[in-house]
Amino acid sequence: MNKSLARILALVLILSMLPFSALADTPSAQELAEGYIAVLSGLEWGTAGATLKTAAAAGEVCAFAERYGLYDLDADALQANLRAAYDDMGEDGQAAFWAGFDAVRALIDDCLEDDEANHSLFEDAGAAETMNSVMCDPLNRLAWENLRDCTLSMRNDEGMPGAADPAAAEKIDYLALVNKLHPLPKGWEDALETVTITNSLGDEVEVETRAYAAYLLLKTDLEENDGIYLELDSARRSVAAQQDIMDRFTQKYGADYAAKTVATPGYSEHHTGLALDLYFRIKNDDGTFTDVYYNEDMTRPEYEGLWATVHAKLADYGFILRYLPDKEYITGYGYEPWHIRYIDNADMAKEIMAQPGMTLEKWLGAAADAGATVDYGTSELYTPEELKEAAVQVKCRFASFAGCELHTLRYAGDDCNTEENLAWMNQLDEGKGYVQVAEFISDFHSPIQPGDDEAWEADKEYTNWQWWLARTADGGWQLLTWGY
Ligand code: DAL
Ligand code: ZN
Repeated sequence: MNKSLARILALVLILSMLPFSALADTPSAQELAEGYIAVLSGLEWGTAGATLKTAAAAGEVCAFAERYGLYDLDADALQANLRAAYDDMGEDGQAAFWAGFDAVRALIDDCLEDDEANHSLFEDAGAAETMNSVMCDPLNRLAWENLRDCTLSMRNDEGMPGAADPAAAEKIDYLALVNKLHPLPKGWEDALETVTITNSLGDEVEVETRAYAAYLLLKTDLEENDGIYLELDSARRSVAAQQDIMDRFTQKYGADYAAKTVATPGYSEHHTGLALDLYFRIKNDDGTFTDVYYNEDMTRPEYEGLWATVHAKLADYGFILRYLPDKEYITGYGYEPWHIRYIDNADMAKEIMAQPGMTLEKWLGAAADAGATVDYGTSELYTPEELKEAAVQVKCRFASFAGCELHTLRYAGDDCNTEENLAWMNQLDEGKGYVQVAEFISDFHSPIQPGDDEAWEADKEYTNWQWWLARTADGGWQLLTWGY
């Protein structure tokens, strides 16, 4: 039987049953609201098959709307009762409700646009018949839209806890830049709305609500079309959680590696809730899954193709890849294929991702051109690799010299490592116990029209500008001062 015939039959069947079901089930507005909330709050998140569960739950919502003829319902009554049932739930239930609503809404609304890929999700979840009837029947469509709009307008109510309403979303700057030079903006946490899910490893992960809804769509797309099973390792982190990671990495890999790969607490993009660290699961022949989540495993050459497929789809859902290969001197970090950033704008994400090597820093005009090659000279004190790491720190800082262009950057030579300079470094940053010093020298050009808050003389070549770094016995380089 072809699909349209099936739909017509389903429609006839539903229409013929409607008066009876309406008579048999005449629930109060409160029962309706409670039932709807129960369906959405009962979803399980983040475990294997989450996509199918979401689809099945969306099917239940549709069936629910259809069964009770919600299109007939007075929107004000539904809204009032929805609010009452919602207020009776605990905080956990409320958070689950919003997470459920966001996921289900995204799925149903995509389906209503008659997207075949989304539709097949419902088939897999055994919810296709219900969905077919909703899609075919304008009245049922109206029923869903009624429920959805009541929920959305409830979300707009002032003081609604856990709400991710568009007005609240506007309070967050989805393009906020948080990096080694820019801490989390003040007041961010007051405006941030998050959901907490449990991943396949049983760990809780907190994510900004819109980012999470977009992530679910990305995940679904990759599962359905590419057989790639994504999971969330980490998203929003408090400053204390970031400190824990820094401590763990320092213990496991040493302070040098930790400083290079983990952001200083207060300066991690993860504080925003918009940065998501992914991992993935491999489906075995017997249908079981193997989690691949350690950094060293995820970056194995055999997974390069997998990451390329994931990265190619990020922008469609408003994400960008944040830490690109060979851009450490701008972003501050080496390549992280798993770290994606939600910017809430698929068109802009597509423009960014279409330009090879484009970083968020550069896109926002917050990165100066620090691409000059470095002259490492010769050194008996430091290996080329150690000098390269020092130069990255310098370039990273230079990237914040808005509108400037770096012409040369050179290592000043081992003579800089004197007792006197070491004492100066230890005076600048007391208590660290630095043991070695490195100096770099650069020439750069200031912008023709410097911004109001910049101290540059316009359009001038600054020559022999100094950069001073120091390091402890087991730590990475710290850039401590620069200038003349
Ligand atoms: N790994 C990224 C840079 C962070 O710690 O925020
Ligand atoms: Zn990350």
